[in-house]
Amino acid sequence: MESSSPNERTATAAGTPAPAVEIRDLSFAYSGKQALHDVSLDIASREITAFIGPSGCGKTTLLRCLNRINDRIPGAAVTSGSIKIHGIDINRRDIDLQVLRRRVGMVFQKYNPFPKSIYENVVYSLRLEGMTKRSELDEAAETALRDTALWDEVKDRLHRSALGLSGGQQQRLCIARVIANRPDILLMDEPCAALDPIATLKIEQLLHDLKKQYTVVIVTHNMAQASRCADRTAFMYLGKLIETGPTLQIFSEPQDPQTEAYVTGSFG
Ligand SMILES: Nc1ncnc2c1ncn2[C@@H]1O[C@H](COP(=O)(O)OP(=O)(O)OP(=O)(O)O)[C@@H](O)[C@H]1O
Ligand SMILES: [Mg+2]
Repeated sequence: MESSSPNERTATAAGTPAPAVEIRDLSFAYSGKQALHDVSLDIASREITAFIGPSGCGKTTLLRCLNRINDRIPGAAVTSGSIKIHGIDINRRDIDLQVLRRRVGMVFQKYNPFPKSIYENVVYSLRLEGMTKRSELDEAAETALRDTALWDEVKDRLHRSALGLSGGQQQRLCIARVIANRPDILLMDEPCAALDPIATLKIEQLLHDLKKQYTVVIVTHNMAQASRCADRTAFMYLGKLIETGPTLQIFSEPQDPQTEAYVTGSFG
């Protein structure tokens, strides 16, 4: 992927910022079994977009198309359509997947820190990229830990094992590890599913801060979470994008009866 300045906002002719992600008529299949059908969606820069919908509707599949992690699954492929990120077609053959995945970082449902120190978790990929200067690594680690509201909690134990942190702290550390790469986009697949309500609230507070710097896409089964956090919400069903719009509108005035049934809990 070509490099441009992080979080670049390109103005359109109309003066509104260009979307960070433009998904057009995207279809995707696992070994011939269609999982996404003609999905078209714009994802705005520096907003939080939530994907909601019943289990198996394709939320994770769509999320994982955005950094091509699905490429790792044998037989899984985009069958038609396109995804552009900051104007670049990410399914082009010459896309450098390592660069793409640094710019489009991912946080998983089950927090997964490496069995290393807190510090080494945060600087892990910076070291892989060749950053060796201690002062630079220290600064990057502190910035990422401050940005994830962890610094004050861990600054006295940076060289102790990450596995000694609470679940919520481990998940915030995983977010710190991703943002140490200075990505443009953060993908989060049910990031609070394994956390208690207080740890969940902390992540939600964090999301509000993170969107000042990052474009965030979050998959959630928690309707209250979507309505608290997301600027825009996309409702999916059976591999199709049924409806998308400002979160308030999706929850209070959905246009499609399927969306209404889902957000009111009468789906079935
Ligand atoms: N690795 C895979 N191989 C084959 N089929 C898969 C694979 N992953 C997902 N699918 C299928 O693709 C469809 C969409 O699955 P996906 O995981 O994207 O749904 P989801 O909306 O994230 O569901 P959940 O809310 O349960 O996480 C489902 O029919 C699922 O069985
Ligand atoms: Mg899923």
